[in-house]
Amino acid sequence: MSASSSQPSVPVLTIDGPSGSGKGTISAAVATTLGWHLLDSGAIYRAVGYAASMAGVDLSDAAAVTRCAQAARIVFRAARDGGQTRVIVNGFDATDEIRTETCGAAASAIAAIPAVRNALFERQRAFRKAPGLVADGRDMGTVVFSDAPCKVFLTASAEERAKRRYKQLKEKGLSVTLATLLREIEARDERDATRKVAPLKPARDAVVIDTTALSIAEVVARVLAIARAAMPALDG
Ligand code: DC
Repeated sequence: MSASSSQPSVPVLTIDGPSGSGKGTISAAVATTLGWHLLDSGAIYRAVGYAASMAGVDLSDAAAVTRCAQAARIVFRAARDGGQTRVIVNGFDATDEIRTETCGAAASAIAAIPAVRNALFERQRAFRKAPGLVADGRDMGTVVFSDAPCKVFLTASAEERAKRRYKQLKEKGLSVTLATLLREIEARDERDATRKVAPLKPARDAVVIDTTALSIAEVVARVLAIARAAMPALDG
């Protein structure tokens, strides 16, 4: 794996953690505050899971899923009004579909295939562009941007993460139960943490923040303080 498409001099702030730890919201807020680019790597895995499902590919067929990962056209289209970024997969707007629990489970399954991760490595590195990048995922600090000058790992109890997800899905009008969500979150954590390639764990040089009892604003403030301490040029 080479880093040919990336710009090593451009600063990267990695924000890793399990689903429901608040990564997505925090990463977006921090990227906006800093005026940096944002990589939602989970959306890329979700998009590949979606593309494979749409193509009728058996998700346990590693070679076929890898071909999907290599071929999938995934475009992030910023909304003009500052609204939600659209995710276009092979020409279809899959923004809502990729957020379903089904797509999340598909993403988690295909993410355990080493060749799929390799196929997506350069795609993710290519997001490293001036003036800087906030990279949100599971292995941003450990693998994809292991050379990042600042790394954060967010955690929260499984119960708290299930509650947050429950609230989000209810707001979208989807019918779910808290107990089912908790079971799904625990199963996904287990799969993501025990897979052989790039398991979910903090980088050795990451700052771990437990967000269970913190508000979004408090976490954003902490992450910005950590980033400013690690990268003094940000204040310049
Ligand atoms: O962050 P998310 O819930 O959108 O991610 C969906 C799945 O993708 C998650 O279960 C694990 C996988 N993933 C990964 O393996 N590596 C990443 N950098 C991001 C996501």
